Amino acid sequence: MVAPASKLTPRHIAITMDGNGRWAAARGLARSAGHRAGLTPVRMCIEECARRGVEALTLFAFSSENWGRPAQEVGSLMGLFLEALERELEELHAKGVRLRFIGERRDLPVRLQARFAAAEARTAGNGGLKLQVAVSYGGRWDIIQATQKLAKECSSGALRPEDISEARFAAQLALAGVPPADLLIRTGGEYRVSNFLLWDIAYAELYFSARLWPDFAVADLEEALAFFATRERRFGHTVARHSAAKA
Ligand code: FPP
Repeated sequence: MVAPASKLTPRHIAITMDGNGRWAAARGLARSAGHRAGLTPVRMCIEECARRGVEALTLFAFSSENWGRPAQEVGSLMGLFLEALERELEELHAKGVRLRFIGERRDLPVRLQARFAAAEARTAGNGGLKLQVAVSYGGRWDIIQATQKLAKECSSGALRPEDISEARFAAQLALAGVPPADLLIRTGGEYRVSNFLLWDIAYAELYFSARLWPDFAVADLEEALAFFATRERRFGHTVARHSAAKA
């Protein structure tokens, strides 16, 4: 049964899953083994978020900058996405998860593009957890692609530049229709945003965990949620508010 989310539960959690390579190196394994081990906490987070009534979960799986990694690592990650999707899709669908991929699709292998589209179509009608997987994604890319769409509308005369509002802009971003991120978790001990969801994390609480991603366990997620529950969220005002949407 899905627990109703309390005001102290984030509506939208975003996670930068960092530390797979170091986890593998510490065991004398190839980096790809670290990425594969990273699937375990991915499953855990999906289950826990669904169970706790979190509305949306966004996972940073492959950044725009990750294309610069050795071809072998990139290839093994693309293979892992394909494999994970083939193995997990029906279970996610049965759990009512609505799956979407955000990022520059054109750069992905054609087979993966087709699988992403099919998985989105299969789960589009689901009313459970909104799960976004960011692949070939960068916050700057997202802002540029939204700007290009609006610029085209302006140049065709359908939109006046002065009518571009925050809401109109947000509607062109990859996460349109998903509430802004309330909590950004980054594992792996780095204190950086690294080009993830720049617009959408404007008022997110930031939580950094030293845990390497493959080791991230339920207790670590609970710690992040406990941290979130202690935050007084003011959204630039003087008194606490629980949601940016109400601000
Ligand atoms: C960053 O760790 C992690 C990645 C670039 C890949 C993340 C992918 C997964 C966890 C696999 C599957 C995900 C889904 C949703 C199917 P790193 O390699 O930069 O680690 P390091 O900082 O220790 O080198």
